[in-house]
Amino acid sequence: MINTTLKLGVNVDHVATLRQARGTDYPSVVEAALACEAAGAHGITIHLREDRRHIQDADVYAVRKQIATRLNLEMANHPEIVGIALDVLPEEVCLVPEKREELTTEGGLDVAGNIDALLEPVRRMKEADIMVSMFIDPDPEQIRATATLGAPCIELHTGTFCDLPPENRGPELERLVKGAGLAHELGIQVNAGHGLTIGNVSGIFDVPFMDTLNIGHSIVSHAVMVGMSAAVQAMLDAMAPYAGGKV
Ligand code: PXP
Repeated sequence: MINTTLKLGVNVDHVATLRQARGTDYPSVVEAALACEAAGAHGITIHLREDRRHIQDADVYAVRKQIATRLNLEMANHPEIVGIALDVLPEEVCLVPEKREELTTEGGLDVAGNIDALLEPVRRMKEADIMVSMFIDPDPEQIRATATLGAPCIELHTGTFCDLPPENRGPELERLVKGAGLAHELGIQVNAGHGLTIGNVSGIFDVPFMDTLNIGHSIVSHAVMVGMSAAVQAMLDAMAPYAGGKV
């Protein structure tokens, strides 16, 4: 599947994780975001968690102010965070489930089971011209619920796919392929992310209609070894075959 518009959103949360580990004022999340952009990233993703374990409120405002590409703010449907999103006005918000004990976002959001709670915040964010995306498992019920909600975008959770041994990934890949097809039919933009690395990203090249991959932990980890610029460029190179040679 050739997609000439595939884009990379780099999630820089774990630059903040390193900073918060020591309570220092370095490394700078803004500097990392600017290095990602300079290396060709199409957008910057940050997750303002209720527990503020990595990204802090000030980071959201600073990144918003400094970057030249798109800001994708990942967040739970929590009134305080919705208020910050409406103040910061990122180009995109991705609604995710959040549990305090989890190491990272574990499953997709249950859109179908939470339509009533989601209607008002989604309406307010759409009114503010924010593109609202739902981070969901490739489940037809969740994709249809996203359409019912009037949200224009999904981010397909690739974590399950990535966690499986390569020889057992077939059925999950099939779910991602079908999910992307259904979303496209319903007029919904398809993004994907979680657990993607240079080593496994080609595994999802059969998933059609992908607009953006949001990738964080593996890029920041690679950057520790080779620098942010080289790490972002290496991921762009790894994604290029999906887009016919260049992203
Ligand atoms: N997309 C969403 C919705 C996420 O919650 C995360 C993790 O913050 C990512 C993408 C990036 O995942 P990873 O850090 O595994 O690349």
